[in-house]
Amino acid sequence: MARTAATAAVATLPPYPARIEGYGLELRPWDAELVARMAHWDEHGFPFHGFDLTQLRDPQRAQLQLSKVVLDKPHRHFVAVEDGEPVGRVSVNLEDEAGLYFWAVHVPPRHEGRGVCRRMLAALMDWLEREVPGKDFVLSTNTFAEHAHRAYYALGFRVAESRWYFDGELAERLWKVHHTVREPIARHIRFHSGRWEVRVYVMKRPRGAPMDLGVRGSR
Ligand SMILES: CC(C)(COP(=O)(O)OP(=O)(O)OC[C@H]1O[C@@H](n2cnc3c(N)ncnc32)[C@H](O)[C@@H]1OP(=O)(O)O)[C@@H](O)C(=O)NCCC(=O)NCCS
Repeated sequence: MARTAATAAVATLPPYPARIEGYGLELRPWDAELVARMAHWDEHGFPFHGFDLTQLRDPQRAQLQLSKVVLDKPHRHFVAVEDGEPVGRVSVNLEDEAGLYFWAVHVPPRHEGRGVCRRMLAALMDWLEREVPGKDFVLSTNTFAEHAHRAYYALGFRVAESRWYFDGELAERLWKVHHTVREPIARHIRFHSGRWEVRVYVMKRPRGAPMDLGVRGSR
């Protein structure tokens, strides 16, 4: 998911809450202990390698990342905690021109398929609807991220447009991997004007749209 660049000024941004509770989860701002535990999440690997956090096993990188996150106005970065364990993360740009913009939606493999994604986004959207009046929700997602789309649809997001996008990190990996590794996502990527691009959907959700939090997956 692309981190957004375009921002527009708003009057006041809500400060970080100590925690947001809902749907069996607690959403907390990043802290050193949570970062240390997220660094040991299992990895998704290609083509979702951009979400993996193993680089945070290096204490200096972890400290640097944490200090960036804390000062990262107008973004808010949350970790979803369930029974004391970090099980997901999500960030939101409060000032994007397009709306409240979710990015870095990530649940590690060992916690997938239990509705963590849906529940953490639902809790965050409830909070945002109270704290940031008048704004709708938006995100962009690679068209191959089909599990994510099921969660987003259930939460009331719909595809507003699709476009080709240059994601430098993904493009670099696409150069390196064998063509058989690219094959499963072949219809979602193209080599165009000398570089790899990926197809993305822009998905939008009007505030207050109904949410289905039932978990139908087999896991
Ligand atoms: C996408 C992601 C956040 C989903 O997290 P999650 O907690 O598993 O999501 P949910 O359980 O709320 O819903 C995901 C859907 O995919 C299904 N699913 C998730 N993992 C699955 C798996 N390994 N096998 C089969 N189905 C799976 C779920 O059952 C659910 O489908 P349903 O609505 O029919 O029940 C997680 O897979 C992830 O971090 N992926 C890599 C990064 C990524 O793609 N991020 C989103 C970028 S826009």
